[in-house]
Amino acid sequence: MAESSQKPHAIMFALPLQGHITPTVNLAMKLASKGCTITFVHTEFIHQMLSKSSEVDLFSEAHELGLDIRYKTIFDGFPVEFDRFLHFIEYWETMLRDFPARVDEFVGKLIESESSSAYFLITDTFYTWPAIIARKYNLVNVSFWTEPALVFSIDYHLDLLRENGHFPCKDNVEENINYIPGVSSMNTRDLMPYLKESSITTLVQKIVLKIFDDQVKKADFILQNTVQELESETISALNQEQPTYAIGPINFSTDSTKPAISQNLWPQTDTKTWLDSKPPSSVLYVSFGSLDQTSKQIIQEIAHGLLLSKLSFIWVVRKDIVSSNDTDVLPVGFEDKIRDQGLVVEWCNQNMVLSHPAIGGFLTHCGWNSILESIWCGVPMICYPLASDQPTNRKLVVDDWKIGINVCNGESVNREEVAEKIHNLMSGTVSDGLRMEIKKVRTILQNALAIDGSSEKFFDQFIKDLKVKIHVKSQDISRSYAC
Ligand code: UDX
Repeated sequence: MAESSQKPHAIMFALPLQGHITPTVNLAMKLASKGCTITFVHTEFIHQMLSKSSEVDLFSEAHELGLDIRYKTIFDGFPVEFDRFLHFIEYWETMLRDFPARVDEFVGKLIESESSSAYFLITDTFYTWPAIIARKYNLVNVSFWTEPALVFSIDYHLDLLRENGHFPCKDNVEENINYIPGVSSMNTRDLMPYLKESSITTLVQKIVLKIFDDQVKKADFILQNTVQELESETISALNQEQPTYAIGPINFSTDSTKPAISQNLWPQTDTKTWLDSKPPSSVLYVSFGSLDQTSKQIIQEIAHGLLLSKLSFIWVVRKDIVSSNDTDVLPVGFEDKIRDQGLVVEWCNQNMVLSHPAIGGFLTHCGWNSILESIWCGVPMICYPLASDQPTNRKLVVDDWKIGINVCNGESVNREEVAEKIHNLMSGTVSDGLRMEIKKVRTILQNALAIDGSSEKFFDQFIKDLKVKIHVKSQDISRSYAC
């Protein structure tokens, strides 16, 4: 098949959320290193946050390496001082309504300013407009999914869930799901909460309902930040539907001279000096990601559980970790009581923490980035999923890959059980078993990124298929001009 001779030029839009920014930036770096030109777009607000939290210029490393990444910003419709996290729903409702027109104007101007027939669009799957923009400007349309393929596959097959009475799913029903192609078996309790009856009106459900039929199924290519060998049946089944490439874990490289790039929205507290003073594998790292919230009561049970365990810990307690306006969420006198046992920070360099030899375990909310980072560093997990894809990700970690344990056996979290689980994770026979399994999964990730590994192979195949598709599109245009 003929390929376009022009250098492919990606127009990339990252979703303005931490858990999506890091993989999208790393995808941009990888595409550029494979010879693509990139126009990378952040919202002005995200640009401001990133600039405040780091003195390093965005993509400075890319420019040092001679990569052709052009960084642009786009207005999201709100003044910079508007707190998008505090007014999350209002922000996203407006984004859903108004952002497509801004993107349309941006893409139109870009294409007009520099004529090339090799443009293509690459956007986070959670956007609700790529198919419309791609059609209008005759662009190849690439959708980038930053969660496990399992979650994608469930969302992709909502029609099957509906037929089987599992969408919306009754809240307390526990039934087997064995009808999704490539998903051998799972229970309704492991479904993403936004598919449950009690979440029928949530923003995420509204977005998911919009994107899969109207957007994703019209994309030319789907990139998944996962590894073929980890989710092989699911990826293979998805490939029967649309060209799908497992290219993860995109945030990492086996080249130790290339550090993981994380663009942090918040300033990081230094944890290295404190960690350097601790024995190997003795510290538990605790973090619940960048976005989701829990209750003050749960935070307090976890705090008491950490104290009871008497083990060392670093805990990221974000200012907005609980849904109420209460910023004083830790038990009275907690910071005095922990003295040298623990370090509480508002944000840190998670990759640096997880790769420190003093870290022996991770109490996580099971965000997909956190899971991949933990596996990459060989750190077993205690899982406390909060929302979104996290309960489904937990199933992969605990039930399928056996590299983590649940924080509590029932629904509620209590301090004695938290302390006991921390001990099980950090040492003893359960811990030994988890460490043995995570070594195997870590090797799978490393092998996938090796020169002849699956993720590298699929990435190269994607670039080839992309060039052919761009060529075909440009021929279509020439033909339509000729008519
Ligand atoms: C969201 C969803 O919740 C998650 O399930 C989905 O997979 C991606 O989008 P988030 O909740 O923030 O992301 O979790 P996660 O995917 O783990 O991403 C958090 C990122 O923030 C990680 O890359 C982590 O390294 C980083 N982080 C977190 C820090 O750098 N420092 C911190 O202190 C805490």
